[in-house]
Amino acid sequence: MSTYPASCPRSEELYSRARKVMPGGNTRTTVFMDPFPIYAERGEGCRMWDVDGNVYYDCINNFTAMIHGYAQPEAIAAVQDQLPHGTAFGAPTQSEIELAELLVERLPSVEQIRFANSGTEGVMMAIKAARAFTNRPKIVKIEGAYHGSYDFAEVSLDSSPENWSDMPASIAYAKGTPQGVLFDVVVVPFNDIEALKAVFSVHGSDIAGILIDPMPNRAGLIPARRDYLEALVETAHAAGALVIFDEVISFRLGYAGAQGLWNIAPDLTVLGKIIGGGFPVGAIAGRAEIMAVFDPTRGKPALPHGGTFTANPITMRAGLAAMQALTADAFTHLDHLGAMVRGGTNDAFERHGLAGRCVGLGSLFKIHFTGNNIVDYRSVYPSAAERQKLNLLHRGLLDRGVLSASYGLFALSTPMTDADASAILTAIDDTLKQIASLS
Ligand SMILES: Cc1ncc(COP(=O)(O)O)c(C=O)c1O
Repeated sequence: MSTYPASCPRSEELYSRARKVMPGGNTRTTVFMDPFPIYAERGEGCRMWDVDGNVYYDCINNFTAMIHGYAQPEAIAAVQDQLPHGTAFGAPTQSEIELAELLVERLPSVEQIRFANSGTEGVMMAIKAARAFTNRPKIVKIEGAYHGSYDFAEVSLDSSPENWSDMPASIAYAKGTPQGVLFDVVVVPFNDIEALKAVFSVHGSDIAGILIDPMPNRAGLIPARRDYLEALVETAHAAGALVIFDEVISFRLGYAGAQGLWNIAPDLTVLGKIIGGGFPVGAIAGRAEIMAVFDPTRGKPALPHGGTFTANPITMRAGLAAMQALTADAFTHLDHLGAMVRGGTNDAFERHGLAGRCVGLGSLFKIHFTGNNIVDYRSVYPSAAERQKLNLLHRGLLDRGVLSASYGLFALSTPMTDADASAILTAIDDTLKQIASLS
């Protein structure tokens, strides 16, 4: 059997071309692979074909965005219908109202919405909206949680044992981050009510909002405890601060997203990924009273917001088609597939006598090679040996025809059948067996 990298000579060739015109041959850090990334040729349903003709079950799904996999017929039809009529105008279109109506109808906490071009931009606008509404400077965020690349949202994304103290310090993610950014972001551990209260007792009157993903992927894909989220809302509101749910990923957990599953109403919600039907998108949504910071009808808004391609009709129409296909039954199907693979993977860990666990909810799961009690970012921070196992898992799956994120994240899609989920599980089982034999 030919295995990566030998199985991908054409990808290697493309990568050497890319290196001449892009730094490190790369325009998106997250898709980098050593020694070279696998270049995609096409996708259909839950499969991706690379430029060398290898076919994979795609469990990355463009980092969770492609909930219907590739070439979803309804999204294709909507886009083909729109293309000859224009792709972006310096004027609004009916399509943005239709997608906004669907999202407002699905999310009880949301009265109004505003679109953007990426989740990063949605998070940025949510942070700025919280500041504009409260007239306060500081944001609280969870250690290790990823929210895109706005400076304030990146703080302490990859804090490490070398800079850990009892309470997480605000650690710069990118070189050159201004001190002022670190000063205005307060970092807390996940699922820790006491730590949150301690932060509010010191900074309460300066805090504009808490930014939280209820199941933060990079911080471990550990679901928030319900009592934690309840205490978080209560603590924030008692101090006059807002709660911002980043549901860029977690909106794929259910018909009304994570907030529907937990039955918690945030003040603001950030959306992205699946609501664009495969096209670039972001959104910020919430109560009308707060969203009024964007309202231009009474002169310059508290928070002006533009964007050349914002709410373009291609994204809006593809997004509407994708969201309409995400029925309650579609979520039942995804939950069933997720439970099957998560359960089977945890059985495999036991059977092969390997330390580790598969966590997640719905269509999302993540594999950790730790014997720790899994509670937060620090509890799943991989040691060098665990990192090596993650690497073996990623490569082992690749050679068995399954694409996953290199840090152990998997996202399932609606076109997958029980037989597909079972094949993915078999690949995971075989790879874990191989890793156990090397330990
Ligand atoms: C939770 C979360 N928030 C925000 C973002 C940023 O979204 P985008 O990549 O569309 O800028 C991501 C991207 O993966 C994300 O996972």
